[in-house]
Amino acid sequence: MKFNLNLSMAFIASAMVAVSACGGSGSSDSASSESTPAPPPAPVEEISLEEKYKDDPIFIKGSELMGQNDCPSCHMLERKIVGPSYADVAAKYESTDENVELLAGRVIAGSVGTWGEIPMPAHPTLSEEDAKDLAKFVLLLKK
Ligand code: HEC
Repeated sequence: MKFNLNLSMAFIASAMVAVSACGGSGSSDSASSESTPAPPPAPVEEISLEEKYKDDPIFIKGSELMGQNDCPSCHMLERKIVGPSYADVAAKYESTDENVELLAGRVIAGSVGTWGEIPMPAHPTLSEEDAKDLAKFVLLLKK
């Protein structure tokens, strides 16, 4: 009888320990979420090309034409995907009338070998005027 009583006392005691441990961990959870500060905002290193040129009429016109064509599936402003980034193209060529014509011609006719083995398909339905606006847009995007 005495033995049984001790056993049940031990059981109750351990149950109480479990309950208090549970309560303890609950309160430490809320304490840790309070003491974890929100991560500081990432430092702004450079403004993006989009931010830099967004008010330029050449940028506005070019973005509109880009959106009507397939260019964004292979080109991004600042990152190479299938084709070179526009920023890389802008860094390679001076923004001159000659280069606008050269690049407009390549966009219409297609090109390969300047940036690598992947060809850019021809864009035969693009008007010369639109192709030049696109080329001006690309050459505008200097960092
Ligand atoms: C299917 C993918 C693809 C599409 C769509 C595409 N391009 Fe390209 N573009 C490329 C590749 C690949 C190159 C690199 C070609 C090379 O090495 O000669 C390139 C090169 C260029 C160049 C640089 C040409 C040079 O001679 O340096 C310009 C400018 C350009 N693209 C603009 C455009 C514009 C504007 C459009 C939309 C009308 C467009 N691209 C659509 C893949 C693409």
